[in-house]
Amino acid sequence: MQIPWRNISWVVLVLFAYNCQTCNGQDYGGEEKPAAPPPEQETCDGIFITYNFDGREKIYPLVKNVSAQGWSFKSMLTVLNTGIFELKSWQVFVGFQHKELLVSADGAVAIDGDGFPVRVGKNGTTLAGYPQSDLKTAIDTAGDFTQMSAQINIKGTQFGLKEKTNPMPSTIKLVNEGYKCPAPKRYSTYV
Ligand SMILES: *[C@@H]1O[C@H](CO)[C@@H](O)[C@H](O)[C@H]1NC(C)=O
Ligand SMILES: *[C@@H]1O[C@H](CO)[C@@H](O)[C@H](O)[C@H]1NC(C)=O
Repeated sequence: MQIPWRNISWVVLVLFAYNCQTCNGQDYGGEEKPAAPPPEQETCDGIFITYNFDGREKIYPLVKNVSAQGWSFKSMLTVLNTGIFELKSWQVFVGFQHKELLVSADGAVAIDGDGFPVRVGKNGTTLAGYPQSDLKTAIDTAGDFTQMSAQINIKGTQFGLKEKTNPMPSTIKLVNEGYKCPAPKRYSTYV
């Protein structure tokens, strides 16, 4: 696993949206790296969360009605502990909003669902790490990103919106008690 953001001294909560045209079909587990986030003054007690929208494709049935058209989508949620305390049982709320169904989320479970697929589109959902639920510190692991971070590959279905849009969640946030996070920032090539 590669986490490109080394030497982060500030922590930020971000939503990334990639240009769909260039990312469709690409494998983000490989060489492709998300851009380094800009330095921020606000902290989330050392926990850094990103949500990358990796693209979507139309699925059957193909219909004329734009808001009834289904799309498969892929995204990646990354939770990284850059702080000084271990994060036990991480839980991240994702504010899904386009009638999404989560079909799989490798490395996490939807805590308010009964297993996949789970409808999350109206109210969003909280994802919890599974089987790896704790994120250790760099100090305790000599900087081992496999123990400090979780990368959750999400696959799902969503509805509506025209081509060339990146349907993002309305928000993401860490819901573990005692952590205070700034509002997420959105980076996007187009909205
Ligand atoms: C288009 O689809 C939406 C969502 O399924 C539905 O609410 C709406 O009535 C449909 N519009 C038409 C013109 O069929
Ligand atoms: C969304 O939240 C509302 C109000 O809390 C609830 O009545 C509804 O069942 C929820 N919908 C889903 C799909 O969970």
